[in-house]
Amino acid sequence: MYLVLLGPPGAGKGTQATALSRDYGLAHISTGDMLRSAVRDGTQLGKEARDYMDRGALVPDELVTAMMRERLQRDDAKKGFILDGFPRNVAQAEQLDAILEELDQPLELVVNLQVPEAELIRRMTGRRVCPGCGESYHLVFNPPKSLGICDQCGEDLIQRDDDKEATVRARLEVYGRENAPLVDYYNATGLLVNVDGRGTVDQVYERIRGEVK
Ligand code: AP5
Repeated sequence: MYLVLLGPPGAGKGTQATALSRDYGLAHISTGDMLRSAVRDGTQLGKEARDYMDRGALVPDELVTAMMRERLQRDDAKKGFILDGFPRNVAQAEQLDAILEELDQPLELVVNLQVPEAELIRRMTGRRVCPGCGESYHLVFNPPKSLGICDQCGEDLIQRDDDKEATVRARLEVYGRENAPLVDYYNATGLLVNVDGRGTVDQVYERIRGEVK
């Protein structure tokens, strides 16, 4: 299964992609996680991406698509993948089509998660993440078993730098600008399904599973 998960910042893409990847044996490929890891490791890509991410802006398309071209060629992606956070605009979607055509792995499904803005802000400002394994929690909606500690690996949880409210608003503005043309692009392919992203994590998961044949 070759699947793309679209949706605004905080919609639950990472949460749902983690569960889908576990249950369907898909590679979970998150451009946000890859870029944060590059920033942490101080690579050239990380140095170039950092300022954009801190401002809530998109990292330039050529950097992100080069990173994805390399990632999609790895063995685990050949067996099936779920893309979380890529593509973000029509230029990236066109690049993705070109890469997948070379690999002979055409997309099969694009799930567009829909969540109202007030709920997105609640989800993002309450999010805590594990810097060790990347697991994501929420102070109220999805708390860890012990306060501030990752259930999976025991590390102290942190707040993402770009989850402060001012940056959250900048990210939502970028999304508002780029998303409609991207949805039109995928609507034209017949692959797009809209999924209601409100409700509990399990409720949303069941809705997505209903679309995965
Ligand atoms: P990225 O990491 O991709 O961030 P995002 O798209 O803004 O998405 P988030 O990770 O914030 O949210 P999510 O939808 O995964 O929600 P989650 O499951 O965590 O990108 C970060 C930055 O990197 C970008 O701003 C940009 O600079 C750069 N970047 C990344 N990709 C790029 C690209 N392709 N091109 C250019 N630049 C790129 O859930 C959020 C919270 O809500 C969690 O706390 C979770 O526990 C909770 N939650 C989830 N589901 C529910 C539910 N149903 N009910 C209640 N709470 C819930």
